[in-house]
Amino acid sequence: MPFATAPIGVYDSGLGGLSVVKQLQQQLPHESLIYVADTARVPYGGRSRDEIYRFSFEMIEYLVSRNVKAILCACNTSSVVILPELKRVGHIPVLGLAQAGSLLPRGHRRVVLLATEATVRSHLYRQLIGMRFPEVELLELACPEFVPLVEAGKWQGQEVENILRHRLQPVLDWQPDAVILGCSHYPYLADVLQKVLGPQVQLLDPAVQLVNQLHQKLDQQHRHTPYRQPVWEVLTTGPAEPFGALAESYLGCSLPDLARTTLVPEPALNVAVM
Ligand code: DGL
Repeated sequence: MPFATAPIGVYDSGLGGLSVVKQLQQQLPHESLIYVADTARVPYGGRSRDEIYRFSFEMIEYLVSRNVKAILCACNTSSVVILPELKRVGHIPVLGLAQAGSLLPRGHRRVVLLATEATVRSHLYRQLIGMRFPEVELLELACPEFVPLVEAGKWQGQEVENILRHRLQPVLDWQPDAVILGCSHYPYLADVLQKVLGPQVQLLDPAVQLVNQLHQKLDQQHRHTPYRQPVWEVLTTGPAEPFGALAESYLGCSLPDLARTTLVPEPALNVAVM
């Protein structure tokens, strides 16, 4: 079993999972982390289930080989495919955004899910919300333009607003009271989303619940790191730039250990999936 001082493993297809890292920074500031961005294969959202499963498994296998104490699947698209089957690897818990994001705050009636095509196609949010909150009406909308905008560093401005306004027309017509940011890239667009949707609509970021769940898990397992300076390692499967500059601008800190990985796990590792 990894030490309590071991890092948290976090993965996504690209920049999106850093919205989960922001929550980690706020809620668990002493924890170290290894973040892997699969920038060589982003976006995941339009890919087949088999591809998403294989890529996700490779990321998890890699993080296990790095001896992390927990894994956050900071990608809804991956979590709807792999999490129904894989909840932990040995003693290492694997927690996912979609499972956390379907735990809604009380009081909402008309809720929209904005997500990738693969997440919408899975209807996992619909299934989980239907079980937990039968009173909620849910509208699901795939937004395939949003991830490329975020990966290109276009998070603000008129062009972004026009694209969002066009895509969100059915949502405006439907008049929801809350919108789930069902892709970890979407919090980058939160300001423009709020402007387009109006101040009466509450934006729900599943990262908040995901990091709450991690907090509880570390409490139960007595595995919080003792107070210490956290170490962050950020890895990409594609070129380090422009990812690095965009990541630093979003997180507001420098990432001196940014490096490239081929995702090849240690050869001696034998991952026992339970
Ligand atoms: N950020 C990911 C998600 O939460 C995936 C986006 C993509 O690669 O299409 O779904």
